[in-house]
Amino acid sequence: MCGIVGAVAQRNITPILLEGLRRLEYRGYDSAGVAVLAAGTGIQRVRATGKVAELEKALAASPADGYLGIAHTRWATHGKPAEHNAHPHVSKGLAIVHNGIIENHAPLRRKLTDLGYVFTSETDTEVVAHLIAWHYSQTPDLLSAFRAALGELHGAYALALVHEDEPHNLYCARMGSPLVVGEGSGEHYLASDPLALLQVTDRFRYLDEGDHARLSHDQCDIWDREYQQAERPVKRYEHAAHSLEKGEYRHYMLKEIFEQPEAISDTLSGTLGDDHVLTAILGPEAETRLADIQNIHIVACGTSYHAGLVARYWIESLVGLPCQVEVASEYRYRTVVVPANTLLITISQSGETADTLAALRFARNQGYLATLAICNVAGSSLVREADWRLLTHAGPEIGVASTKAFTTQLVALLWFTTALLQVRDRSAPQVADNVAALRKLPALITQVLALEPAITALAQRFANKHHALFLGRGPHYPIAMEGALKLKEISYIHAEAYAAGELKHGPLALVDEDMPVVSVAPSDSLLEKLKSNLEEVRARGGELITFACESIDQEQGEGTISLPQVDDIISPILYTIPLQLLSYHVALVKGTDVDKPRNLAKSVTVE
Ligand code: F6R
Repeated sequence: MCGIVGAVAQRNITPILLEGLRRLEYRGYDSAGVAVLAAGTGIQRVRATGKVAELEKALAASPADGYLGIAHTRWATHGKPAEHNAHPHVSKGLAIVHNGIIENHAPLRRKLTDLGYVFTSETDTEVVAHLIAWHYSQTPDLLSAFRAALGELHGAYALALVHEDEPHNLYCARMGSPLVVGEGSGEHYLASDPLALLQVTDRFRYLDEGDHARLSHDQCDIWDREYQQAERPVKRYEHAAHSLEKGEYRHYMLKEIFEQPEAISDTLSGTLGDDHVLTAILGPEAETRLADIQNIHIVACGTSYHAGLVARYWIESLVGLPCQVEVASEYRYRTVVVPANTLLITISQSGETADTLAALRFARNQGYLATLAICNVAGSSLVREADWRLLTHAGPEIGVASTKAFTTQLVALLWFTTALLQVRDRSAPQVADNVAALRKLPALITQVLALEPAITALAQRFANKHHALFLGRGPHYPIAMEGALKLKEISYIHAEAYAAGELKHGPLALVDEDMPVVSVAPSDSLLEKLKSNLEEVRARGGELITFACESIDQEQGEGTISLPQVDDIISPILYTIPLQLLSYHVALVKGTDVDKPRNLAKSVTVE
C-alpha cells in the first residue's frame, strides 16, 4: 500500500519526510521517492527502488534540502516496481505523489499525449501530473488548475502537489484514500496516516471526502468539494504513541477488538468507488484475469480458515463460481484435483504460517491459473510468493487470539467476491449494494461494541462450565466455529460448533443444564429453521445464549443480546464481534492469560 508524507516549514524538511516514510514502511512498498523545493531552486527529485534505506543512500549521494517537499512509498499497481515508475512524478515545474487508483487514466493519457505531453512512466499518477500542468497552462492560478484537474479524475486518490512557482505552498486533496494535515508550530505537514507524523506533531485535521487544501508554514486553507472554505477541527491523536502499546486497555485482545472499526476502514481505504470496487488495486490486468477465473480453492489455517469458509457462501451464492475451502495442513499432503482456470486463495494474518506457505508452494505445480494471498503483513513470505496479493490493514495484532485480522480478512474476501461479480455483471445491483454495505460496517461495529456491558454480564454464566456448544446456519455456521475456537483458545473451556441442523444427529445428547448453547441467530432466511433447533435445546433444559437481530429478540427471552438489523451480506462480520467479546470476558472470569494462552504461539512457523 502506498504512503504519502509532505511538509512545509522554515527549516529543512527532508529529515521529516524520510522519518515519515520509515514509519509507513510496515504497510509494504516496492520503491520510494522525495521531491523537495527551496525558494530559488527547482524541484529536486530523488527516487529509488527497494527500501527507504536505498532512498537515503541516493539522497546521501545527491542531497536534496528545502523548506517544502513531498515523499512517497509506492506499491506497484500500474507499471512494474522500477525507479521510473516511483513517485513523485513531475511535469513542467510541478511534482505530485498519489495514493489510490485513477480509473480513467487511459483516456486522459491519450488526450494528454495528443496535447504533446511525453510520458516517462506507466503509472496512472503521471497522468495527473500532466493534467494539472495542462490546466495550469490554461488558467491563471495553480489552485484553479488543481481543481479543474481533480474534476476530471474518476477513482480514488490522496494527492499532494508542489510547484516551483509557489515555493511556499503545499497542495493536497483526498477522495477515497485517507489524508491528514498535521499542525506544527509554524509548520504544516500532511500524510496518508497520522502515524507517519507522530515524530513532529500529535495534532491533526482529518480531511473529509472531496476536500482539498493549501498549506503554507503558517496557514492552512481547506475547501470542500463545492469549493467552500471548510473548518476541519484540530484533534489530538489519542491512540497510544504507537500501536504496539496497550494504552488504556487491560489486554491487547480487548484493544484489538475495539480497533476493528478503524482496521476495517483502513482495509477498505482506496478500494471502493461510488458504486463499484476498484479492481485495479489488483494490477492493471485485473479485470481480464478476474474474468478468466472459473473455480476457486481457498486454503488457510485456524481463524483464517474460518474466513475462507464464510467466503465460500458469498462466492457461490453471488458469483456462481464453485469454491472449495480446506485447512492447509490437509491440503498440502493430498492429491488435489485442480479444474481448469482455478484460482488458489491463501489467507493468513502473519503470512508466515508454515502449512499455509507450504500449501502455496505445493500449489505451484498443480496447474492453477494464479495464486492470491490475502494477508496482513506486506513483506511476508506468503505475499512475496503469491502472484496476486490483497492486503488487510488490521495493523499489528499482538494478542494470540486473532480478532481484527479475522474481520479484515472477511472484508477483503467480500471485496474480492464483489470484484468477481463486477467483472461478470457490472450492472448487478448486488455490486453497488455490497459497496454500500461495506461502507456502513465500521459504524455498525462501533454500535455492536457498545454491547460490551451486557456481554460481560452473560460471561458470568460460564464461570463453572467446562463445555459449550456454538450453533449457526449458512454463513453464520463458520462464525459459530470461530466463536467456539476463540472460547477454547483463551478460556480453555471445551467448545464445539455445529451447523444447527446437525444438532439432532448426535450432539443434542450432550445438552443439559451444564451445557451453555451459544447461537448466532440473525434475521435471515434460515432463522425459522434455527429457532426450531433452539427449541430442541430449550426442551432439554439447555442454557441458551443467543445473539439475535433486534427485530426478533422479544421471542428469545433472557440470555439474548440484540444486534442491529443489517444487510444479510455483512451480517457474518457483525456477528463475530459479540462472540469475541464473550470469549474475552469468559477468559477474564476464568482468570487465564488472555493475550498469551498456554501452549499457543502467535505465528505458527513450524509444521
Ligand atoms: C486463532 C488464531 C489461529 C490463526 C492460525 C493461522 O485465534 O489466531 O487459528 O488463525 O494459526 O494463522 P495465520 O492467519 O497467521 O496464518
